Amino acid sequence: MKIGIIGAGNIGANAAKLFVKAGHEIAIANSRGAETLKDLVAELGENAQAVSIEEAAKFSEIVFISIPFGKYQTLPPNAFDSKIVVDSNNYYPDRDGSFTELDENKTTSSEMLAEHLRGARIVKGFNTIWFEHLKTQGDMSLPSEERRAIFIASDDAEAKKTVARLIEEIGFAAVDTGDLRDGGATQQPDTAIYNRNLTASEAQAILGSEGGY
Ligand SMILES: NC(=O)c1ccc[n+]([C@@H]2O[C@H](COP(=O)([O-])OP(=O)(O)OC[C@H]3O[C@@H](n4cnc5c(N)ncnc54)[C@H](OP(=O)(O)O)[C@@H]3O)[C@@H](O)[C@H]2O)c1
Repeated sequence: MKIGIIGAGNIGANAAKLFVKAGHEIAIANSRGAETLKDLVAELGENAQAVSIEEAAKFSEIVFISIPFGKYQTLPPNAFDSKIVVDSNNYYPDRDGSFTELDENKTTSSEMLAEHLRGARIVKGFNTIWFEHLKTQGDMSLPSEERRAIFIASDDAEAKKTVARLIEEIGFAAVDTGDLRDGGATQQPDTAIYNRNLTASEAQAILGSEGGY
């Protein structure tokens, strides 16, 4: 599969490594331009290229976005039409600045991204896992229920299935928290599953008993 990655930091660069290892072709972008990603791309090998943000979106079937949430409005809205977009961004007011509609729980960060990238098929995912764990905890040898959980939420069932397959291919278990609004809110900072080292079966137990957030 062709996967675009926007954001080449802790999460984006490590996701890129896992996707390449799983046999995918990636095109990666950051805010400063492709020339700043030469070393990373050299490390990733021949199935990786550094490109512009527009090119990363156009190249791919899935676009994995991992940037500080506060920058989401800089993304070019039309480049993502009909693409599956994985939204791994979290809202941290100290880093991102305050968004009143989020502070007042009127919406969620993924719904705001979906509003901006109209026509994209947004799947919130990879939000609750620390990048050091993303780097090391995937294990293809384990049965799904014993693997570390990576949570997904979306209003698009087919897109969610595609992202779930990708998660399984890198050695994790995809655990569905529901639709973009409530399922997305379930994955936000300070919730019961956020930044917790949970297997899929432990995660299901928490989601079942605590109903998420
Ligand atoms: N760190 C974690 O363990 C973790 C876990 C789950 C989710 N998250 C969330 O994932 C997102 C990324 O976190 P991170 O730790 O990977 O951040 P990071 O290491 O600071 O990397 C951020 C990346 O985003 C790029 N970027 C910044 N502004 C951009 C823009 N306007 N357009 C395109 N690219 C832009 C940066 O490129 P330049 O350097 O060129 O600006 C950099 O490559 C955040 O929303 C974070 O909350 C993080």
